[in-house]
Amino acid sequence: NTFLVVMAGGIGSRFWPFSRTHLPKQFHDVMGVGRSMLQLTVDRFREICPPENVFVVTNRDYMELVQQHLPELPADQILGEPIGRNTAPCIAYASYRIAKRNPQGIIIVTPADHAVLHEDEFRAIIRKAVDVAQNHEVLLTLGIQPSRPDTGYGYIQYIDEDGKSGLPKGLEKVKTFTEKPNLELARMFVDSGDFLWNSGLFVWRADAIIHAFHQYLGDIAEVFDEGVNDLGTERETDFITQAYTRCRNISIDYGVMEKADNVYVLPADFGWSDLGTWDSLHRMGHHDADNNVVDGDALLYDTRECVIKTPSERLVVVQGLDGYIIAEYDNVLLICKRTEEQRVKEFVADVKSKK
Ligand code: GDD
Ligand code: MG
Repeated sequence: NTFLVVMAGGIGSRFWPFSRTHLPKQFHDVMGVGRSMLQLTVDRFREICPPENVFVVTNRDYMELVQQHLPELPADQILGEPIGRNTAPCIAYASYRIAKRNPQGIIIVTPADHAVLHEDEFRAIIRKAVDVAQNHEVLLTLGIQPSRPDTGYGYIQYIDEDGKSGLPKGLEKVKTFTEKPNLELARMFVDSGDFLWNSGLFVWRADAIIHAFHQYLGDIAEVFDEGVNDLGTERETDFITQAYTRCRNISIDYGVMEKADNVYVLPADFGWSDLGTWDSLHRMGHHDADNNVVDGDALLYDTRECVIKTPSERLVVVQGLDGYIIAEYDNVLLICKRTEEQRVKEFVADVKSKK
């Protein structure tokens, strides 16, 4: 009775020019291991969740791609969204579908853009979370020890209850959840030592998250309550088309996690990274002696701290660069200082307006 919901509808715009509207990063072999991010995500849960219990939520434009990447997945478990409305409607859709099959089913929600280095530790902590969620109406997230004041993450402050709550050891009650703080706040959080990063990996029972939608995102719950009889039938697509026009654009983090009072965190350490940016690939990838991460055919001279990802048919020769991103995909070549990578979004906008 354990279900996996893979959220795979993002555009991954910070990973340009690799991540593109017609092929976002979850469909790329970002790690250079011969499997896409999406495939690696589902692989990671194989022992915990068989394909018949896996749901992937994505834009309708990518449903066929998902099926190609995951041929073992039953076609009606690829849930297509007409428009992106962020993660709250995405999770509502999947949760209502799963609840029809099993109202008390355990749902593991995972992003499709994460790298995990230690898979055994990962599975152990997921199993523990599933066990807790089975027996308690709690919203669980896995928390990661922060290593820098990154403003792209949610920050969790927890209360050390030392087993007082009657919940298993290692599980901490969340005191505050702050989604994407500004830099000043993020620095304070990291310096204080009391905060964890929200991994964006959630575990809860179907009835628990639907209850939370009623409490904190009543407007979205109402939409899905009305159409619940259509789910799993031939009327589902029509219902979802109109449902999404009625749902506001909001993430689960802002909509539920910041507000709910039954949020718990399991501190975890499994070599985690959100592969959201080129810099994250530089952190996670395999480094050569000069701290370059190279995926492609490259000859480097006096070059260090670079991340290079180019098509296999291209030979790249680089001299004298320190700390650059060199990335080519589908006729676009980006050369950008690693420290300036937040400007990639700006470049994309300019490229689009040029066309
Ligand atoms: N189906 C669908 N529809 N998926 C979506 C949508 C949508 O509208 N929007 C985003 N996703 C998917 C993305 O593809 C990604 O796999 C996942 O949901 C998370 O979305 P991101 O846009 O990558 O979120 P984030 O990285 O900014 O923030 C979240 O993750 C951080 C950790 O990586 C938050 O949960 C943070 O609190 C967290 O720290
Ligand atoms: Mg992300």
